[in-house]
Amino acid sequence: MNDEYIIADKSLTSQSREPILTVETLDDLDASDLSEICDATEEAIQAGGGFGWVSPPSRSVLENYWRGVLLIPDRVLIIGKLDHVIAGSCQILKPPQNNEAQAFSCQLTTFFLAPWARGYVMASQLVIEAENYAKSNSFNTINLDVRATQDRAIHSFETLGFTKIGTHPNYALVDGEYVTGYYFTKQI
Ligand SMILES: CC(C)(COP(=O)(O)OP(=O)(O)OC[C@H]1O[C@@H](n2cnc3c(N)ncnc32)[C@H](O)[C@@H]1OP(=O)(O)O)[C@@H](O)C(=O)NCCC(=O)NCCS
Repeated sequence: MNDEYIIADKSLTSQSREPILTVETLDDLDASDLSEICDATEEAIQAGGGFGWVSPPSRSVLENYWRGVLLIPDRVLIIGKLDHVIAGSCQILKPPQNNEAQAFSCQLTTFFLAPWARGYVMASQLVIEAENYAKSNSFNTINLDVRATQDRAIHSFETLGFTKIGTHPNYALVDGEYVTGYYFTKQI
């Protein structure tokens, strides 16, 4: 699926124009995609929001991570592009096959955008694309967790109808300090 949006009233550069925003579910990353998604990941980690990474790993570790995502049948990669360049992504993580009791729910995970792509509505389009994928694959619930410090993400989730259902005081360890985490859910 590939949805294209023209964002009015926004400009990427000092010249006024409309950036092209696309979101799509990918099952392959060519060399250029891999390079772009690694760049976006490194920039997001350096800005403090790298889905678990606190500091950027080596390029080969990042490349192997993204290649690995595509090899895992339970993971679905949704990427967002701004002006045809990969700017970020999220993933749907399906429950393992033995987990019949939770077969109705999936996780939204590894949601991030490079700092240069923030503020362009891409975040909500990625989550909506993930929701559409989940719905069309017979899931009725999406769960997710997020550090309490990620204000923009939390605002996006609440705006999109996710409900906070729990708090973990020792959710993550960043620079030697525990960070609180929030758990959200949405029925779709
Ligand atoms: C989460 C993320 C993908 C959102 O993308 P984004 O482009 O920044 O999202 P938006 O610009 O749509 O901003 C989200 C909302 O937060 C609001 N916002 C901006 N700064 C904020 C702040 N400091 N506190 C609260 N809300 C804030 C925005 O106004 C916007 O709300 P609106 O749509 O009602 O105007 C991106 O910020 C990111 O990659 N963050 C780091 C990684 C992360 O936190 N991932 C989530 C882990 S689950």
